[in-house]
Amino acid sequence: MSQFPVLTIDGPAGSGKGTVAEHVAQTLGWQLLDSGALYRLVALSAQKKKIALDDNARLTELAETLDAVFIPRKTGGIEVYLENKDVTQAIRTEDCGRMASQIAAKAGVRKALLKRQRDYLTSPGLVADGRDMGTVVFPNALAKVFLTASVEERAKRRFNQLNRKGMNVSLAGLIIDIQERDFRDMNRSQAPLIAADDAITIDTSHLAIDQVVAQVLAIVKDRQ
Ligand code: DC
Repeated sequence: MSQFPVLTIDGPAGSGKGTVAEHVAQTLGWQLLDSGALYRLVALSAQKKKIALDDNARLTELAETLDAVFIPRKTGGIEVYLENKDVTQAIRTEDCGRMASQIAAKAGVRKALLKRQRDYLTSPGLVADGRDMGTVVFPNALAKVFLTASVEERAKRRFNQLNRKGMNVSLAGLIIDIQERDFRDMNRSQAPLIAADDAITIDTSHLAIDQVVAQVLAIVKDRQ
């Protein structure tokens, strides 16, 4: 394993892990891995290439050869490129998230993305967010956090997030989407969404982002 420290932030859709990971990485000056974006990219690429969701061999090959580039923005967040095309917005739709969750259940796809995710660990350290960062990808991480929040709160956050991006969605539809995604992500046989034994769980339902970021930074400081 690398000598550089890793902070893993896992949790279900809409738990705030992406925003928290971004803020924490910026404060620490560490690299950022949004692992969900990789699964979303495989989904988007499969859709573009018209690969069926049950074509495991082609989906695995797609994940193995994925031409993905993440460029951190100075102002925070990342720009995402697929085959040199800016897909930063395109991968954030609910449709893409749903497909990503289905594709993420496939062993071949997960195996293909494993090394790629570990390669993000470079100097001076890494904040990695996803579903299995603390359990599978970085089991020896310096600190592990698991974020949760009620389904209603997570759907509300997604609603506001997508609305801000000009995407038209219904709150009721988002609640159903999130429940379905939770079920699939938690009940799959490959790397299911679960808190690592040594993760610290934070319920963010009634916390502002700044409060969660402060708690996570305190956990990292405590471990250093
Ligand atoms: O975090 P997200 O909503 O962008 O992730 C999209 C889907 O990708 C999610 O529903 C499940 C899958 N995923 C995964 O299985 N493992 C990860 N480490 C990250 C995401």
